[in-house]
Amino acid sequence: MFLVNTNHTLTQINWQSYRNDVKAINTMINDASGPGGDFLGWRDYPKTYDKKEFAKIKRWANYVRTNFEVLVVAGIGGSYLGARAAIEAINGLRNNDSIEIIFMGQTLSPNYIYQTLEYLKNKKFAVNVISKSGTTTETSISFRLLKQMLEEKLGKEEASKAIFATTDAKNGLLRELANKEKYVTFNLPANIGGRFSVLTAVGLFPLACADIDISKLMEGAYDAMKEYDNGDIMTNQCYQYAVIRDHFYRTGKKVEMFVTYEPQFRELGEWLKQLFGESEGKEELGLLPDSAVFSTDLHSLGQFIQEGSKILFETIIYPRIPNNDVEIPKDDEDLDGLNYIAGKKLSFVNEKAFLGTLEAHTADGKVPNIIIEMDEMNAYNLGHLFYFFMRACAMSAYLLHINPFNQPGVEIYKKNMFHLLGKKGY
Ligand code: PA5
Repeated sequence: MFLVNTNHTLTQINWQSYRNDVKAINTMINDASGPGGDFLGWRDYPKTYDKKEFAKIKRWANYVRTNFEVLVVAGIGGSYLGARAAIEAINGLRNNDSIEIIFMGQTLSPNYIYQTLEYLKNKKFAVNVISKSGTTTETSISFRLLKQMLEEKLGKEEASKAIFATTDAKNGLLRELANKEKYVTFNLPANIGGRFSVLTAVGLFPLACADIDISKLMEGAYDAMKEYDNGDIMTNQCYQYAVIRDHFYRTGKKVEMFVTYEPQFRELGEWLKQLFGESEGKEELGLLPDSAVFSTDLHSLGQFIQEGSKILFETIIYPRIPNNDVEIPKDDEDLDGLNYIAGKKLSFVNEKAFLGTLEAHTADGKVPNIIIEMDEMNAYNLGHLFYFFMRACAMSAYLLHINPFNQPGVEIYKKNMFHLLGKKGY
């Protein structure tokens, strides 16, 4: 079950007025004839993905799971956020799995990198370096440090058996290096950009190493692909979501706040922020994507959402059934006054927090809510969710007449940084 609940949007959308645009854009997505059409490889990837590579991913993931205590995933942006979001969403923030997945390459912070290297000193670790371009500074620095550490520990030959590189099939410095050092490599298709790459080896290898069922993930994405492949705004929920956010943008909203009630979905919010932020934030247009985890953030952002300036709407990602549950115990003394909910499950309390907040934000706060509902968060539903948001994002950007698949603005800070670092040519 995957449902876009539009009962709390506080608005009447004139679907008919979007009918022709949605139909035309859907055709443009399907025949890759719009701006950035060369980067639409993700659209039918759940069907066309390389089955041999998929089997290779599973095989090497088993090898990593059997032989190492830690997998360090080194990547940034689209080369890291999806894997992290998926692993946390499915496996939770604490688990007893035999292997731990940690992340590096997403920061230049000396503190973070020093602490991570210290942590790895006495661990048996493998590295999955992920970079499409093969030249991203954050990833390259981390990888150089990890490679040296492994080579010092194990010697060059053994170290090369602990390194897995995910990059372009032919081009880039990482491809050259991986070929030279004879690393096992996985391909990132040339026609899929970073933030649309979670269902490729970029996400699949770390997920498989974390023992997540990547076949189910692809199945969910495949079913979503079939479901959202048509241009009928009256029936296509994915495009209905895209149209509602477009409507909000055109009627004065500035921010879409992605909300969950699960701390283990916090990184999903980060993935969504990149997906929509980099795809739509161009030409001085676009909604600012933000994210929050309730009820935690109701104690920080809740006041603003309820009574602050009316610049935002909320998109709630709401699986109805938690993967785990806890009963609130009875206490004979009841000093904390909680016995009125003793015997109830936390899922019950969390649901009431959701319903109470929904009413508060919509009825009192006049903040529109879209609710993306599913039964539970598992690999299948997550595959569906990833595909749903990628397709909705493409539709949304095209409704704004924006190329969803480039990110020219990201280059400016890099140029300045390279100039300040004294890199040749800057
Ligand atoms: O979405 C994108 O394209 C970016 O976020 C990239 O994924 C990110 O900059 C990392 O690039 P690369 O994979 O080339 O190292």
